[in-house]
Amino acid sequence: MRLQAVKGTADRLPTDQPSWRRVHDVARRVLERAGVRELTTPVFEFAEVFERSVGEAADLVVQKEMYTFDDRGGRRLTLRPEFTAGVLRAYVEHGMHTWPAPVKLWSHGPAFRAENVQRGRFRQFHQVNLEVVGSAEPVADAEAIALFVDVLRALGLEHATVALGSVGDPEDRQRYNAYLREALAPRAQELTPTSQERLRLNPMRLLDAKDPGDRALIDGLARPLDHLGDAARAHFDAVAAFLRDWGVPFEVDPSIVRGLDYYRRTAFEIHADGIGAQSALGGGGRYDGLVAQLGGPDVPGIGWAFGVERVLDALAQVGAAAPADAGPRLYLVPMDEEAVADVARIARALRTRFHVEHGYTKRQPGKGLRDADRAGARYAGLLGARERAEGVVQIKHLASGAQTSVALTDLAAALDRPDPAASVGEVAPAATQEV
Ligand code: HAM
Repeated sequence: MRLQAVKGTADRLPTDQPSWRRVHDVARRVLERAGVRELTTPVFEFAEVFERSVGEAADLVVQKEMYTFDDRGGRRLTLRPEFTAGVLRAYVEHGMHTWPAPVKLWSHGPAFRAENVQRGRFRQFHQVNLEVVGSAEPVADAEAIALFVDVLRALGLEHATVALGSVGDPEDRQRYNAYLREALAPRAQELTPTSQERLRLNPMRLLDAKDPGDRALIDGLARPLDHLGDAARAHFDAVAAFLRDWGVPFEVDPSIVRGLDYYRRTAFEIHADGIGAQSALGGGGRYDGLVAQLGGPDVPGIGWAFGVERVLDALAQVGAAAPADAGPRLYLVPMDEEAVADVARIARALRTRFHVEHGYTKRQPGKGLRDADRAGARYAGLLGARERAEGVVQIKHLASGAQTSVALTDLAAALDRPDPAASVGEVAPAATQEV
């Protein structure tokens, strides 16, 4: 068998890294300015962490999407399918309810779901995740949603759409589920098997049905937002009012339901066009009661996650890819055997300040220049017997072809100057940016 990456997983190649790094850097900058601090939790947890949190009617459970296994000590472990459960487990374990509230935490990393692989849906994917724990105020919901939009905008995704809804309080949900059961009972047999299962376990999830036959039965029914009690309705209106006040565009989506069971009241998703059927960049909502369910104090919370792969796909659609990593400032070419040791020594010394690479074997000048070019270097430095005798390096500015000879002792200073070789002044970026 030819060895290859497991279906639904992917390698992230060096050329992919700048875009990924940019997503994390932008998220970090935007979130940390709002007082969100980074938390890293393990990639696997006791299975119970997820079993207690995502809910037995969640897609993850119903569709057996969790990677759960026994380790050698007989512990049942699960690769995290999402971050919320692990973050809240850590919140409880470290007594974060004693920290000034709300505790705002962001995380990023891989998550694992045994799903049917398609565009935008993988088995190992990556999330950027936010949790705001310890506030039941609508302003917390609005801030979380606004931060999501801020991150996307800062990345260059101006036109993602926020769909805001509410799944209500548990009583509202029960009432709505009872309504759906009653409304659909006479024609339940006509639903697809998946939808029949949902009707039995978690009727609200029927609203996500894609099958046209199912849709025909569901489309005329009332939505979760029509079944809110007074408290959940007031909460929803307050969240919407904050977003309007801040000029954060959103659409009310009365049908929003989520694949995870722990949501109460606010539920939202953010979609982008042009990234295929899996158009949700991310989503989240309020999960009051979940911390208590995990054995902690009864503190409320709200959060979201976005899929990094989907955000990168959306960025590629709008042509907002990150610039490639810069190549070396200098690529040194040894033109004879003796120069191999010289260029290696010079490179090591210059690397305290600059990105410098060099050839490992002697090269003809023409080939050496081609090596430098392929490495993406700004300058090539040629060193042979004559240069050694004179204590210089021939420095060639690859873009202009201008060449000059620079004394070894001046090399660092020359690399610092805007352009040591080119006679016509092209301004080099400041030294701090390029190393
Ligand atoms: P979720 O909607 O299950 O929510 O996932 C959030 C995002 O992760 C999705 O919108 C999607 O972009 C990405 N995603 C999910 N599954 C996959 C997959 N198989 N392949 C690629 N991308 C995927 C949560 O995970 C909640 N924990 C969010 C949350 C945080 N709620 C409160 N706090």
